[in-house]
Amino acid sequence: MVESTGKNACVIGYPIKHSRSPRLHGFWLKQYDIAGRYVAESIAPEDLPAFMTSLKQGALDYCGGNATIPHKEAVLALADHADETARILGAANTYWVEDGMLHVSNTDTYGFLANLDDQAPGWDAPKTTGAKTAIVLGAGGASRAILYGLMMRGFKSIILANRTVERAQALAAHFSDIALTQSCNISPQSMAQAQTQVSHADLLVNTTSLGMVGQDELVFSLKDIPATAVVTDIVYTPLETSLLKEARANGNRTVDGLGMLLHQAVPGFEKWFGIRPEVTDQLRNHLLQDL
Ligand code: ATR
Repeated sequence: MVESTGKNACVIGYPIKHSRSPRLHGFWLKQYDIAGRYVAESIAPEDLPAFMTSLKQGALDYCGGNATIPHKEAVLALADHADETARILGAANTYWVEDGMLHVSNTDTYGFLANLDDQAPGWDAPKTTGAKTAIVLGAGGASRAILYGLMMRGFKSIILANRTVERAQALAAHFSDIALTQSCNISPQSMAQAQTQVSHADLLVNTTSLGMVGQDELVFSLKDIPATAVVTDIVYTPLETSLLKEARANGNRTVDGLGMLLHQAVPGFEKWFGIRPEVTDQLRNHLLQDL
């Protein structure tokens, strides 16, 4: 048994009932024999500042945790120190207290990249000719974290497609400085326009909620996608979305969205509990049993 740190962590959200984080972190706490707990806390938006003040004063039983909807922007605003990714994304999903100060991070970009590194090694390898091209469907918070990651991994052309094209334009504008520094062209488009570009894709990512159980299907044909392209979806219910099924039938490498959830949790667990946990098949199966 690892010496009890007396440390506990929690995920805050509103509502929070459906969070899978307690199951995920609970698995690791047991695996590494750590005498800590990870629980869900329902915190209404108006109660968040008081929660963070109490946390910093050591009045709560937590050393940190995760933040989910609707707290990701507010937690960043309340932070005494935010890491570069959180500042660039304008949102935080991980927090902890150090010397009475609230520190925050955003691990979504890390989770997205680590999942692809794990499941599709070489997915970001440079090309000998032409710009490495990604098509990203969706322009919400998840898309923001993913766009940043793709720029950091050398994608020089990103087609950013969204139902509401203005939102894709606003996201491209948000990243205009970084895109310039990275010599990356982000092209906001409609879904229909992006459909005509699919033959250029080295990577296709669905960041919308389309294809999720209870939502409409994503209508996007992969008929013309290169056989070498990697296709990934952030939706993980079902684990194999229609998009991934079509990609697999085409012979493309596919990466499901569950891995992003698992990998984004790694840096937080290490921060709170002092052990860098592993993403394993056993962990995946443990989460799958409850999807
Ligand atoms: P998240 O933070 O998970 O990315 P979000 O910010 O609500 O969530 O973004 C959801 C994304 O899914 C958006 O790109 C949204 O498109 P709009 O910006 O046009 O709303 C997309 N999305 C959700 N439902 C959709 C639908 N029925 N058709 C097309 N796109 C949809």
